[in-house]
Amino acid sequence: MENIKKLKLAAIIDGLGWNYVGWQHPEMPADASENIDFYIQQAKLAEGAKFDTLFLVDVSHVGPGNIPHYLSMFEGVSVMSAISTHTQKIGLSVTASTSYADPYSVARQILSLDKISRGRASLNAITSNPGGMVNFSRGHLGKSDQYPMNKEFMEILLGLWDTYEDDAFIRDKESGVFLDPRKMHRVNYRGKYFQVEGPLNLSRSVQGRPVLYTAGTSQTFMDHATSYTDGVFTHGHTLEETVAIANELRRQLVEKGRRPEDFIVSVSQNPIVGRTDQEALEKYLELLRLIPKNSLPRPLFFGSAEKVADQIQQWHDQGAIDMLILRQDHPHGLRDFIDLVVPILQERGIFRTEYEADTLRGNLELPMPAFREI
Ligand SMILES: Cc1cc2nc3c(=O)[nH]c(=O)nc-3n(C[C@H](O)[C@H](O)[C@H](O)COP(=O)(O)O)c2cc1C
Repeated sequence: MENIKKLKLAAIIDGLGWNYVGWQHPEMPADASENIDFYIQQAKLAEGAKFDTLFLVDVSHVGPGNIPHYLSMFEGVSVMSAISTHTQKIGLSVTASTSYADPYSVARQILSLDKISRGRASLNAITSNPGGMVNFSRGHLGKSDQYPMNKEFMEILLGLWDTYEDDAFIRDKESGVFLDPRKMHRVNYRGKYFQVEGPLNLSRSVQGRPVLYTAGTSQTFMDHATSYTDGVFTHGHTLEETVAIANELRRQLVEKGRRPEDFIVSVSQNPIVGRTDQEALEKYLELLRLIPKNSLPRPLFFGSAEKVADQIQQWHDQGAIDMLILRQDHPHGLRDFIDLVVPILQERGIFRTEYEADTLRGNLELPMPAFREI
């Protein structure tokens, strides 16, 4: 299926990439994941290049084989709140686990972030792995509980974010009428895992409600994504595999009466680019030299800027991605991509040269959702 939307770009800005060695590079702040100056610097870089959104993955428990920089990192909503006051247009996407967190608190935090940032927040509501349950008083639950919890969590979130109709607050000082109570709606949700009465004490945001994604690859993930979310963060090992996942998601959307163009399929890549193939190879070798066993896989998007731009264009044209989420393995991965690849994508008319909107939904070409009572 050919892609009719412009390419969207996101940047994961928690520092050193999904690898064990990046922090050792001389030009990388070794404490990047808990260094607010680093986060803000990366955020400004991405906003200067007109990226759609910043993106934070979530690691909320320490497990075996943790990547070093995830052993001490900031929590997402706190970081994004700080970044929101240093940026104007770029989206702020936070990941939280529906297996660990509490839906009322998450609904309140993310909608607050949405209003603080004037319509730029989104939540990636993932199942995560069951290993972290013990930190959230849920040690008695296991893997088979995770998707049923995820379903309840999503239903509660969407209900709470639409607590108030758009014109519920009158705030008329003369008559003393603050609220039209008929326009306030409780969720009265009685699930197996979560019981939430509502209402949430926060009105809707300028983008209607925060953008909602989920991440995964399984059939159940696809069912939840196409039932509840505005988009996904998914993964295929090859272009063909990713196209197949994206097309299956779009098929399920149509089956459920939704428009595929109102949905964002994203995957992440960690490109290493140079002006030439040789320059990219040298950057990769810099990382390899940091580890004795040379076990860093070569990125799928790799080589000269032209070559990487061609790859991105191919993935976008063939419908594998609406949004590319960039991770960086090399300390200058984001900067290099912005300096070398973004201008080519802009010249080819695939990526914007100016923001179209002030809200994340606006830039993602997602429609403003009307209020709906659950
Ligand atoms: C692209 C992608 C991104 C993910 N990001 C996170 C993350 O940030 N934090 C986390 O704990 N789990 C993350 N996960 C794990 C998922 O939450 C989930 O546990 C896993 O994909 C298993 O679900 P599935 O078999 O239904 O796909 C991610 C998975 C995928 C595929």
